[in-house]
Amino acid sequence: MSTLPLPVEHARRVDLPVDPRPAPLRSTAAGQDPLELIDKLEVIRQEMADDIAVIESLLTGIAHGRSVAHQSARHLLAAEGKRLRPMCVALASRIGTGFGENARKVAAAVELVHNATLLHDDVVDLGELRRGTPTARMIWGNAASIYGGDLLLVEALELIRETGLVDLIDHVLSVIRQMVVAEALQLGRRGKVDADEATYFAVIEGKTAALFRAALFSGARAGGVDEQVARALEAYGQDLGLAFQIVDDVLDIAGDPAVTGKALFTDLREGKMTYPLLLALARDPALRPLLEGIAANLDAPVDTETARAVQRSVQQTHAVEDSLARARAYAESAVARLDAVPACWAKEALETVAWASLARSK
Ligand code: IPE
Ligand code: IPE
Ligand code: MG
Ligand code: MG
Repeated sequence: MSTLPLPVEHARRVDLPVDPRPAPLRSTAAGQDPLELIDKLEVIRQEMADDIAVIESLLTGIAHGRSVAHQSARHLLAAEGKRLRPMCVALASRIGTGFGENARKVAAAVELVHNATLLHDDVVDLGELRRGTPTARMIWGNAASIYGGDLLLVEALELIRETGLVDLIDHVLSVIRQMVVAEALQLGRRGKVDADEATYFAVIEGKTAALFRAALFSGARAGGVDEQVARALEAYGQDLGLAFQIVDDVLDIAGDPAVTGKALFTDLREGKMTYPLLLALARDPALRPLLEGIAANLDAPVDTETARAVQRSVQQTHAVEDSLARARAYAESAVARLDAVPACWAKEALETVAWASLARSK
């Protein structure tokens, strides 16, 4: 699954008028206005307001203890996340019998697994800002953040167990295993500048796409969707997750922290070879010593001059455009997977979710 035969766009765009929008907003599905897509996603969110309210109320009931682990978990849950994964669960369930009790539990569980990985990830990445607010580890320390994440994993599995859907327990356990293995693979590659595409895709398939896959598949199963359509939705989730992570990588270099709610260059400082860096390095030999310098000093803040030089290299080599082209190909593939899904509002909403993941600036 790691590579699609894609025509990465090498077209050099010169003489473009200056576009004030953040980079991701400039490149999206062919023929679709990115700002319109963001508006369309907003309309879907409004139409799903009841579903989202149910998810929020389930999440509010989690982690009620007084320990620092509970406080860490609650702090992240209460901060404003996009809730994209539970929305995917709700939409998948609505392709079947609807967002019933089991689907609701699954939606909350998937968001809890996601939040658990964020609490852990911020320790590994030394993240200071998340969802526009200081990370739990900055307030209660690294250990509290780890235990908070562990707590949420247990709560998530508990919710899945409550559905009584035994195949879903197996599914979610296997997804969590894939996420951990992928994170460990990424850790082993930390600071190694010569990353290859196969490893990059193995990492993001496990750390990000696996959970999107689980959201779609388990939402479908909880909504009684038949096996063949549930598998098509799962494949959509896989492609959506890959597109989503590539755009996330772009935002680490070209995003606006005031909008993403995360600090710029967190991956860079950690010596994580993200997709834009991988492309830029293959095209610009002058980038190598810069990245090696950062890798020799892992965890140290990247000085402004170096960060700007990396940004320049990424820009000059068109690595942002080409990363977004790659993400676009995955979004296209995601939408094509929906061919097997009967026409309905939820299917159209999933199409918008896929296109809007390219246009997002947060
Ligand atoms: C961030 O996910 C982690 C990735 C897998 C890229 P989101 O961008 O969905 O984060 P929240 O939940 O909205 O904060
Ligand atoms: C996202 O990795 C994958 C996770 C499972 C946390 P990142 O390190 O890119 O996530 P952010 O950018 O910190 O949200
Ligand atoms: Mg991170
Ligand atoms: Mg990231």
